[in-house]
Amino acid sequence: MAKSRSRWVCSECQSTHSGWYGKCPSCGAWNTIEEVCDPQDAPAGRVVLSSATTAAAVALSEVGEETPRITAGMPEVDRVLGGGFVPGSVVLLGGAPGIGKSTLLLQVAAHLAKGKRSVLYASGEESLQQIAGRARRLGADGERLLLLAETRTETILHTARELALAGELELVVVDSVQTVYSSDNDGLPGNTGQVRAVSTQLISFAKQHDIPVVIVGHITKDGQLAGPRLLEHMVDTVLGFEGDDDRATRLLRASKNRFGSTLELGVFEMTSEGLREIHNPSEAFLSQRPTDAPGSCITVSMQGARPLLLEVQALLASSPGGNPRRNSVGVDPSRLAMMLAVLDRHGGQFVLDQDVFVNVTGGVRLSEPAADLAVLLAVASSHRRVAMPGDMVAVGEVGLTGELRHAARIDVRLAEAARLGFKRAIIAPSSSGKAPKAPKGLKVRAPKTVREALELALE
Ligand SMILES: Nc1ncnc2c1ncn2[C@@H]1O[C@H](COP(=O)(O)OP(=O)(O)OP(=O)(O)O)[C@@H](O)[C@H]1O
Ligand SMILES: [Mg+2]
Repeated sequence: MAKSRSRWVCSECQSTHSGWYGKCPSCGAWNTIEEVCDPQDAPAGRVVLSSATTAAAVALSEVGEETPRITAGMPEVDRVLGGGFVPGSVVLLGGAPGIGKSTLLLQVAAHLAKGKRSVLYASGEESLQQIAGRARRLGADGERLLLLAETRTETILHTARELALAGELELVVVDSVQTVYSSDNDGLPGNTGQVRAVSTQLISFAKQHDIPVVIVGHITKDGQLAGPRLLEHMVDTVLGFEGDDDRATRLLRASKNRFGSTLELGVFEMTSEGLREIHNPSEAFLSQRPTDAPGSCITVSMQGARPLLLEVQALLASSPGGNPRRNSVGVDPSRLAMMLAVLDRHGGQFVLDQDVFVNVTGGVRLSEPAADLAVLLAVASSHRRVAMPGDMVAVGEVGLTGELRHAARIDVRLAEAARLGFKRAIIAPSSSGKAPKAPKGLKVRAPKTVREALELALE
């Protein structure tokens, strides 16, 4: 275990001494000698935020501007981070086994290593040959992408510290927190104490040297990040990389971000050359959509600042038993149950005895109430076996009395629908009663109730 080393420093002349003196032997000032614990050897389990020897409070007006962010070189990653890596921040990236965490970070590392400073990519999971093999497949090259196959945090940080002190370090990636260990802790790699000790050291390093550190974290079977929950509190940003085996689409989102919104979504496609960014996800998600099939409705969902066109699909089938099934992917089950009840009571459609399956294409979750109307219309369309017009979108919250409620940022949503060639939109009336400005080529109707919306969409 590293022992904490103390030094005695004069706050007046900054001279270092072997012990405490009332009067500084160098400059003669009284009561200026202070004990300083070397931050590099800080006691285990403590995060060191800066290497400053004194802790004087500073007026807000005197605190300088933030250092500019470091762009990841991939706009979809920057978007989720809130505009790039904040120097000194620690990002935890979690995701299912084999989803593409190492691929994503190696691509980011390769982009950053094209700049003036190096990126240290330390892996406790793979050999140098394995990492290099992947890097070559991804088309990465360059002398500033430094690979390290190492499981001891102290060794990784020793290398990182030397680069940082020489002003040559841009980013550190540690893949993964479960496979590296700290000599401060006796436990096996991956156990709670080890994960905590390793992350504490990595966070201390990031804060002291103002270098961003990205840590990969494994997730458990039920989708939680493995290790202590505390880890998520300790780091600045927690990102999740999601997707499923059947599809190549991968989604990156933040569940915590001290420096940006958690609503943003990054969209990628896994290819043999690595992850390809999808800058226009609406087009990609709608590309295989059937335009004349009952049970399909397009909505415009705000994912952070970006409007996304998504297809809600529903299938209703008569339920053999007395206990109809409800299965929803991408839509909150309680919200779906509410839509079925509203449709039953206010839409005149008796769907409560039916098995109901709802799916949002692309693997995206529709968490905002503005998607209610699309869910309701998709269910009604499947039930009546009538397709909605293929050039129509629906946006609006549905209330329990069957009324439609205004969705935020409707102008942005309508503009995106028009841009993608949609001709008709059914939206909820605005709270002010004023009709929204319809983009050119888009006919906007704003019914007040679910019943009116059903008439417009399905008749
Ligand atoms: N030659 C290839 N062609 C296409 N896709 C590939 C190829 N090699 C790997 N992949 C994709 O990359 C995925 C593995 O990516 P990666 O190793 O980055 O995942 P990971 O999340 O880091 O996994 P782990 O949890 O095991 O560390 C594979 O599941 C596969 O989808
Ligand atoms: Mg990996």
